[in-house]
Amino acid sequence: MKTSMKSIKIKDLAQISGASVQEVEMAIKKNPAIKFNYRLLTVNEQREVISKIQNKLIQNDLPVSGENDPTRWEVGWTEILKSIENSTFTPELLKPQYFKYDIFRLNQNFIKVSDIDFEYNLFTLLRNIAFKKYLSSYSKIIEVGCGTGGNLYALRNLFPEALLIGCDWTKSSLQILDIISQNASKKIEGKFFNMLTLEGKENLQMCQDTAVITIHSMEQLGNSFSPILDYLLYKKPGIVFHLEPIFEFYDSGNDLDDLAIKYHKKKNYLNGYLPALEELERKKMIKVIQKHRTYFGNLFEEQYSLIAWKPEP
Ligand SMILES: C[S@@+](CC[C@H](N)C(=O)[O-])C[C@H]1O[C@@H](n2cnc3c(N)ncnc32)[C@H](O)[C@@H]1O
Repeated sequence: MKTSMKSIKIKDLAQISGASVQEVEMAIKKNPAIKFNYRLLTVNEQREVISKIQNKLIQNDLPVSGENDPTRWEVGWTEILKSIENSTFTPELLKPQYFKYDIFRLNQNFIKVSDIDFEYNLFTLLRNIAFKKYLSSYSKIIEVGCGTGGNLYALRNLFPEALLIGCDWTKSSLQILDIISQNASKKIEGKFFNMLTLEGKENLQMCQDTAVITIHSMEQLGNSFSPILDYLLYKKPGIVFHLEPIFEFYDSGNDLDDLAIKYHKKKNYLNGYLPALEELERKKMIKVIQKHRTYFGNLFEEQYSLIAWKPEP
């Protein structure tokens, strides 16, 4: 028998986003029709999902992060570039291909949704709440690992006057940014940058008026985050904001988290970054403003953890 339908309410969204009810209400006003309906999985469905994850965990050809090779991303973003070139521009075209699931993790349970845009809608809401909360006072915003530029397009609408720069190591990403610029009220600059080698770092000019953001891009570094972290400590932007899967937030004593831990390790996602930031805070080199587990994620992992920090002057 199916389980009963539930809905993520404003107070739940406040808990998920780590923001206040008022901040959520402000963000939701833009799109009041969106509903976040879901149901918990039945015992049988849950068994099937766990077996699907376990099969993934023994798959030999799963792409892993941390290698200095943009090919996989170039292929994916070229696909999106072609579809943008072949149609009239709409921001929906910037949606990465990986927003495709109907089963998610919420508060350490699996849930099933019928709206295929559930994750993308929740992501854009979390993103907009956080952008307003953390980035409003910065005149320059740099996204590192900007992919198709969807986040920058959202930033352009929220902050029409800000200088926006998108960095990525793929050519297709920078080509997409050129097209977005032609369809936005003000240019969004695209710059080559490799987080692993710092190649292109001269493109990342920043000072106190600059916010640096990463969304699902530092996840790709495994434990090789020192080059970019050291560079940020040296350049001292006003704020650094991340929406990334944070390994250290998982609880190994929880069965669902344990699967996420295994998947995170298998994919070689970002590992050790939060402890490194906490150590820098102990040394009074940075101030961590927010570290928040949303308890929301896809079938395999929670990729929406939020961290904001500032280098100490
Ligand atoms: C999962 S996508 C996220 C894209 C975008 N931030 C978003 O939220 O839609 C990861 C992005 O990080 C970029 N990336 C991965 N490793 C990188 C590196 N070493 N240097 C620069 N960009 C990198 C990829 O090319 C890709 O665009």
